[in-house]
Amino acid sequence: MTLNEIFERRVSIRTFDASKRIPHETLVEIISATSLAPSWKNSQTARYYVAESQEKINEILAAFPPRNASNASGASALVVTAYVKDVAGYSREGNPDNELGNGWGIYDSGISNAYVVLKSAELGVDSLIMGIRDAEAIRKAFDIPDNQDVLSVIALGYRTSAPSRPQRKPLEEICIFE
Ligand SMILES: Cc1cc2nc3c(=O)[nH]c(=O)nc-3n(C[C@H](O)[C@H](O)[C@H](O)COP(=O)(O)O)c2cc1C
Repeated sequence: MTLNEIFERRVSIRTFDASKRIPHETLVEIISATSLAPSWKNSQTARYYVAESQEKINEILAAFPPRNASNASGASALVVTAYVKDVAGYSREGNPDNELGNGWGIYDSGISNAYVVLKSAELGVDSLIMGIRDAEAIRKAFDIPDNQDVLSVIALGYRTSAPSRPQRKPLEEICIFE
């Protein structure tokens, strides 16, 4: 698959086939791909917590509002993204290197998440990134330490129907070349 074919394959899926499960080895391959992502001073602060058993999946589904819970309900795995705070974008002494502070840790996690959804697409696994969730309920479910903030949850599974891709802004609106 070319990179462009992977870009085309990836689209947010909101109806997953509950009868199809992702092999554990495939999940390992997907999360392992993130180790090649760039990060602030190679600080690698993105963290993943993967709900794979139905019991754990149900626990994470309970941390969503109804729309996201319903959309993710047939997913085979729910991948919680967190990041270690006060490292990316910070000096060794713990001072922010510039005005964005922990924005850089979140930035790095976004890049890392892109690897998750694109590697998934390459392997024929569909995805949905969700930012609307109860972070504290998720923290409890995985016992995530206080020095990490919970970011997105990425549902992974297999689509039941062809989705439509929402319209994109024209290049002129998002980029200036001079
Ligand atoms: C940071 C982030 C948070 C998102 N949160 C949600 C969400 O809570 N629920 C949802 O259904 N989609 C969510 N999405 C998916 C976006 O709506 C989707 O990526 C966008 O509409 C573009 O569509 P596409 O992914 O199909 O190309 C989120 C995407 C990102 C990157």
